[in-house]
Amino acid sequence: MDNTIETKITATSLLHQISGLSIDAALAELAARFPGKVTFSTSFSIEDQVIAHHILSAGLPVSIFTLDTGRLFAETYSVWSATNDKYGTHVQAYYPDRALLEAFVDQKGPNAFYASVADRKACCHIRKVEPLKRALQGQTIWVTGLRAEHSPERRDHQLIEWDEGNQLFKYNPILHWDTAQVRAYIDQHNVPYNPLHDKGFVSIGCAPCTRAIKAGEDFRAGRWWWEDNSKKECGLHAS
Ligand code: ADX
Ligand code: SF4
Repeated sequence: MDNTIETKITATSLLHQISGLSIDAALAELAARFPGKVTFSTSFSIEDQVIAHHILSAGLPVSIFTLDTGRLFAETYSVWSATNDKYGTHVQAYYPDRALLEAFVDQKGPNAFYASVADRKACCHIRKVEPLKRALQGQTIWVTGLRAEHSPERRDHQLIEWDEGNQLFKYNPILHWDTAQVRAYIDQHNVPYNPLHDKGFVSIGCAPCTRAIKAGEDFRAGRWWWEDNSKKECGLHAS
């Protein structure tokens, strides 16, 4: 990001600028202020589908990308196709660097994530974090579907915040929505969503690293379930 912009704008002033606005209006305002530099990352989760609907139904000039790890659920690819079809769009995909991935799989095998936390994090780095860096290149605002309800760490996020690691601002428009609000929005607007959400899958990532949760379990209990809670981030949202 341009250093001059960085020093002149604070997350607080951006927040002030959009406070009181609807999500559509806030996105439109940010897109007008930073033309071509507002981008939304979607994993096609139910949260991300809420934001995608806001952007695509209003035709907002916000680019949309996904990180295709190559290990997503078949259902996730179906939601991706259904989204392209419904809104007449082409969500842009970023892929892992071929040389990095080939070397990793060659050395560690296809399912290295179960072997150790270090191997799991290396896989997430190659399949998600490195492609994310490329996707965010030259952008000023990164829109995400983070929700505070998902984990204690996520409660520390702000609606608009400076992301030091990626050197840009993050806008988390549905940070304070609860599950019922998300569900109601999806139903009301007839938005395509992942059927796994109806089968106990709450937070959905890669297939080998995601399972359904049982009643009473934490939101993220189904992600990397063999690891202890403190390690359950893939590095996309490391602050
Ligand atoms: S993760 O860090 O554990 O993988 P989570 O699945 O909760 O993240 O998703 C939080 C937000 O990160 C999503 O709303 C989306 O903005 C972004 N995100 C996560 N996975 C992807 C992906 N594969 N492609 C694009 N964005 C993603
Ligand atoms: Fe690899 Fe699992 Fe991370 Fe996906 S979630 S990138 S398969 S370790």
